[in-house]
Amino acid sequence: MKFSIFYTFFALIGAALLWMNNSTGPASVQGLDRTGSPLSPGPCQTCHNAGAFSPTLTLEILDGGAAVTTYEPGKTYRLRVQANATGAPTGYGFQAVALTGNNNTQAGEFANPDNGIKITPLNGRQYAEHSMRRTSNTFEVDWTAPEAGTGDVRFYSSVVAANGNNSSGGDGSSFLTSPVALPEGAVSRTEDNELFEAFSVFPNPVENQLNLRFRSRDQGAYQLRLLNLQGQSLLERRIEVATGEQVQGLDVSTLPAGVYTVLVTDGKGVSSRKVVKR
Ligand code: HEC
Repeated sequence: MKFSIFYTFFALIGAALLWMNNSTGPASVQGLDRTGSPLSPGPCQTCHNAGAFSPTLTLEILDGGAAVTTYEPGKTYRLRVQANATGAPTGYGFQAVALTGNNNTQAGEFANPDNGIKITPLNGRQYAEHSMRRTSNTFEVDWTAPEAGTGDVRFYSSVVAANGNNSSGGDGSSFLTSPVALPEGAVSRTEDNELFEAFSVFPNPVENQLNLRFRSRDQGAYQLRLLNLQGQSLLERRIEVATGEQVQGLDVSTLPAGVYTVLVTDGKGVSSRKVVKR
């Protein structure tokens, strides 16, 4: 009996320390934007301010490995943040966010983070950040560009090159003093990218049964997925699609309340819509 109280006590302390652990990303631990964006009370170097390792930060939006200078609405890219440091840091961390407009709303969607990276929702925006002190100085996550008419997207980011002493002392840090801005480009291959000629989901918000109405050029077995804001797939199924206009129902009654992306793909093209589950 005494022993179990003893162990419970230490388990609780352990859990509290784990929860407090800043090595797992400031959006989840501190509930704060630390990218240096207009929403940020200060970047990583607010705490990691020793000026060691002199890291420089490079942020690129890649299409097949090559950096792009404009984005195509709806297209998926790979965001890469790299911290190049002097000396010998033993670990790295980062945070990044994509914003647009005067209200700094989220621009596009993050998904498929590398190992040791996670996507944390915070104040209606997604933050990509380290989930542990990483040995690699390169951070990658998919970024799907927003819909046409969104305009310029601004990427903000901050990195830490750490000495591995489990404190913010003795580390180096840097952030983008001006964001990487990506103007909206033309949709070059509408026919290839956009799977359906028309696509809507209703009712929205939905409680039990979600209906997908679409007009398809082709027929076949397509994949349907429901992704949460962290980009995780919570529901997957194959649907038989005919050519022309049609409606398909989907039972979403068991899903937790939240914002989802309904995505249909044939492996080449993609059509997606946002839906709110109550
Ligand atoms: C409010 C202060 C604060 C801010 C801001 C902050 N951190 Fe930290 N960080 C800490 C503390 C304290 C620790 C050590 C204890 C812990 O892990 O909780 C830490 C630990 C770390 C470590 C491990 C360091 C080591 O040497 O072992 C990394 C990596 C890290 N933070 C990355 C970041 C990144 C990246 C940012 C910005 C996006 C950031 N931190 C912003 C306070 C902060």
